[in-house]
Amino acid sequence: MKKLLTIILFVIAGTGISVGQGNNYVQDYTKYQGLALTPPMGWNSWNKFACNVDEELIRKIADALVSSGMRDAGYVYINIDDCWHGDRDSLGFIHPDKKRFPSGMKALADYIHSKGLKLGIYSDAGSQTCGGRPGSRGYEFQDAQTYAKWGVDYLKYDWCNTEGLQAEGAYKTIAAALKKAGRPIVLSICEWGSSKPWTWAKNIGHLWRTTGDIYNCFDCIEDHGTWKSWGVMQILEKQDGLRQYAGPGHWNDPDMLEVGNGMPVNEARAHFSMWCMIAAPLIAGNDLRNMNEETKAVLTRREVIAIDQDSLGVQGYRYSVKDSVETWLKPLKGGGWAVCFLNRNASAKEVSFDWQKEVITDSVSKLVLNAKSTTYAITDLWKTGKPASTKKPFKRLIPSRDVVLLRLMPAKK
Ligand code: GLA
Repeated sequence: MKKLLTIILFVIAGTGISVGQGNNYVQDYTKYQGLALTPPMGWNSWNKFACNVDEELIRKIADALVSSGMRDAGYVYINIDDCWHGDRDSLGFIHPDKKRFPSGMKALADYIHSKGLKLGIYSDAGSQTCGGRPGSRGYEFQDAQTYAKWGVDYLKYDWCNTEGLQAEGAYKTIAAALKKAGRPIVLSICEWGSSKPWTWAKNIGHLWRTTGDIYNCFDCIEDHGTWKSWGVMQILEKQDGLRQYAGPGHWNDPDMLEVGNGMPVNEARAHFSMWCMIAAPLIAGNDLRNMNEETKAVLTRREVIAIDQDSLGVQGYRYSVKDSVETWLKPLKGGGWAVCFLNRNASAKEVSFDWQKEVITDSVSKLVLNAKSTTYAITDLWKTGKPASTKKPFKRLIPSRDVVLLRLMPAKK
């Protein structure tokens, strides 16, 4: 009998099956596949409300997302950023601030889900969030379980107070924790591009911030002393050289939108258009309860959103610059192209482009825009009117800090 037992144990050991412990030590550090196949769309509390978040606000924002037509235009995530937190209990479980979220997160998630929306939440890889609330360091698996239990669908995971941590390892830990918790949750990596997450995060997160925080201006830098935040144009500049890392399920994140937070409509339109050209997540950051018609028209322009959400998922690029007027291109599914002329000047500029003159090959996707061999129908995406064609050169006066955004589709023969 003893001999038989020895043989059985020997055989088990030989197959590599561990006895007693199971194989719980095998971690799966990868994100949920099949999420964010196009850049995520939604709303986040930070840009407008900073730490002033509570359940009443979040419910009203969810209502407004629906009544404004934004949900139907594709915005689904309602993301609560920093400062929702209360304390950890004696077992280490995190609870929302009781005064701000008296009904609890599960009830809020239920409400949001009942509207056909999804709930996003925020934490931090360090001991405290940037706003000084409890971070997830040392509590990753517990927090992931809690979020899953509440019905959270999206986690923005920040990088303040991370002394001694290494980013790739820390984000792998939270990815493993989310996987283990068993609920598909989008992981938004927010370490401001410091450790070049585009080089390591493809299988860990669904999007990663490429820069520090956006500032609510078109063309400025805000110096906070120890750190800076960046205007729309400054953030755009910082996307250079990153486009080959983006694609379905893994996106460069140039930070959330400032549309509706005070920029004039031409600047808001240019900001929104450029975020669509670079396949950025479209996370609105304004007060949806009091939007004017201009803001709503920008955020819900379906033709423009379709450029961002194109299923090919190729991030656009700056093709040429002349006189501070930039020509950006983005190849689309089905042989089409988005073409955006961005006038960064303080005055109007005329742009002209002769489609017949050059055959353009995108070095990343290898797709070709060839108006010599193909005639494309041209639609102006911010205007209504008859389509034009690439048979004739394009000419237009672009107002200061504005765009002309075109969609070229191969005309049917
Ligand atoms: C960091 C992030 C911001 C926001 C704040 C919250 O600065 O980059 O997007 O989440 O923290 O404190």
